[in-house]
Amino acid sequence: MPYSEAFGDFYYSRADGRAECRHVFLGGNGLPERFEKSARFIIGELGFGTGLNFIETWAAWADAAPQGAVLVFHSFELHPLERAAMVRALSAWPELCGRAEMLAAAWPDRPGGEIVCHFDHQPGPVELTIHCGPAQQKLPACGIIADAWYLDGFAPSRNPEMWSAELLRAVAASTTAGGTCATYSAAGWVRRNLAAAGFSVEKRPGHAGKRDMSVGILAR
Ligand SMILES: C[S@@+](CC[C@H](N)C(=O)[O-])C[C@H]1O[C@@H](n2cnc3c(N)ncnc32)[C@H](O)[C@@H]1O
Repeated sequence: MPYSEAFGDFYYSRADGRAECRHVFLGGNGLPERFEKSARFIIGELGFGTGLNFIETWAAWADAAPQGAVLVFHSFELHPLERAAMVRALSAWPELCGRAEMLAAAWPDRPGGEIVCHFDHQPGPVELTIHCGPAQQKLPACGIIADAWYLDGFAPSRNPEMWSAELLRAVAASTTAGGTCATYSAAGWVRRNLAAAGFSVEKRPGHAGKRDMSVGILAR
């Protein structure tokens, strides 16, 4: 289980990180259903970590997207992992190994700066960009507009800067009208920061025994 000493938290659910990704981040954003109608779909993520959410999203998109569609995935990461640590974490799911190997092959020896990976794959190209550094500085400067956001910092009590009012305002400013966000957290102050940023926030049942999670939609 990948664990951060710096933040005192695990990278994903100890129960099943893949299932958590499907329930919280894909399901919470209405995916993969929205992929079926999209010629180009843009996802933003706070916290790239091991790349599990990216790989799982890529697999779901490949199954659902129309021929020729493009998946664009922007993620923000303060401490990009070394290749070996990423490979070790993703090896927990042998069924993901094809895509995990492609990610590892494209991963730089010294990750940092802006990591850009391009995968030519069926049903169409996948463009991954990881903006390395504090999300609170990188996001406002990068000018992306996403259809859906994965809010996946460490627990809000341990990593409050990833859930600040200011950063969630930047997320809203980087979301298309009618776009969505999802997180495993149901902390009251996170939900209030999302609402103050302009999202209509709703509680949904959480993953693996967690009572609640949160999803948001940005008014059109
Ligand atoms: C829960 S993990 C993300 C797990 C990841 N989505 C995955 O699929 O493995 C949280 C991530 O947020 C990153 N992080 C923490 N604070 C950050 C900040 N201020 N800016 C950008 N990334 C940050 C951590 O380094 C860590 O990789």
